[in-house]
Amino acid sequence: NNDKLIKVTFNKANGDKITAEGKKGDSLLDVIINNNLDFDGYGACEGTLTCSTCHVILDSKDYDALPDKPSDEELDMLDLAYNLTDTSRLGCQIILEEKLDGLEVQVPATVNDARD
Ligand code: FES
Repeated sequence: NNDKLIKVTFNKANGDKITAEGKKGDSLLDVIINNNLDFDGYGACEGTLTCSTCHVILDSKDYDALPDKPSDEELDMLDLAYNLTDTSRLGCQIILEEKLDGLEVQVPATVNDARD
């Protein structure tokens, strides 16, 4: 069933835990936008891989479970993100699918808009 909602929890640096739902094929950025989540500065380039403000950090288990590995373009952009880790991804490049239901990601405190 393609209409099943997939739950994602965003753990913000200030301790807030925000759970929202998206559909298969949505990016994490879509989930944030579609649910009107208030993440200051997040997703500034609207998913065009030019900003790095959509940086999220995953558990290594979840990182390994993602269907797509980061593209070179994504890795280049991640290099510009603050607090980069080995399990960092860009939220606009993480596409939801059913097996990701219950995914939790950390949203770093500071975003770097690489376009500035
Ligand atoms: Fe700008 Fe993801 S929203 S790189």
